[in-house]
Amino acid sequence: MSPLEIAALLDLADRYVDLNRQPEKKIGLLRGRTVVNLFFENSTRTRTSFELAGKRLGADTINMSVATSSVKKGETLIDTAMTLNAMHPDVLVVRHPESGAVELLSQKVNGSVINAGDGNHEHPTQALLDALTIRRRLGRLAGLEVAICGDILHSRVARSNIHLLQIMGARVRAVAPPTLIPPGTDALGAEVHHRMDSGLRDVDIVMMLRLQVERMEGQYLPSVREYFHFYGLDAAKLAVAKPDALVMHPGPMNRGVEIDSEVADDIHRSMILDQVELGVAVRMAVLDALAATQGNAAP
Ligand code: NCD
Repeated sequence: MSPLEIAALLDLADRYVDLNRQPEKKIGLLRGRTVVNLFFENSTRTRTSFELAGKRLGADTINMSVATSSVKKGETLIDTAMTLNAMHPDVLVVRHPESGAVELLSQKVNGSVINAGDGNHEHPTQALLDALTIRRRLGRLAGLEVAICGDILHSRVARSNIHLLQIMGARVRAVAPPTLIPPGTDALGAEVHHRMDSGLRDVDIVMMLRLQVERMEGQYLPSVREYFHFYGLDAAKLAVAKPDALVMHPGPMNRGVEIDSEVADDIHRSMILDQVELGVAVRMAVLDALAATQGNAAP
């Protein structure tokens, strides 16, 4: 997407933030449309916020839990997709543990497909909600210094943020031990740091990432204790950033592993719950924009 398209989507999301703060949160924009949440991986924030987003726009929103579906009986991804497709969903929101699976699925179905996270590849709506969170607090994205810290190797959140933030004119640093930085991170435009003190120096935003142990094969760290010592964000490490630097985390957080509670719960510095709130608005904006492209064609 171009900077203008992204800005327009964030502007639309801003309007949904206002709606979400009203007692009456529901409009009829997607009345008659069907949104299916198809999650092949666990999720709290992303699945709930897509469900709320669909419902608040008036769509019929259903969650397909893979744990109780035919996927457990050995059905393939494509067969599941084709089966759902036969029921004419307008939008499929898909999360899958394999990078590229959502793109593959999108080629097989008629409706729109939203990537809600594919393997360690991308998580576009997370990057959009992070951008909205920063823009609402600081009024801009251009010219900011953002440090993304932690398990970048396994993080679709990091990859989508590296793309989006740079498109919007921010500078991105990737801060992690060498074992958790994927090759080619500098080619994506991010400045690589292996120490928190140099990585966080004078940044505006510190974005922490969870150690995604479910995607790790083998040993990446000596121990969690040592990891927290060198890479866990606490007040002392944050002190080298700008005096009013803000802290973000996509969740779920592992307190005492990548982030200290003192920082996570600091109401002046932490934007973690703002991210959750704005996630609903961003997903409403994405559904709205997709519905506009689908039009109202007669059956
Ligand atoms: C992230 C994810 O699933 O990619 N969480 C989220 O969507 N908010 C990050 C993570 O799992 O650590």
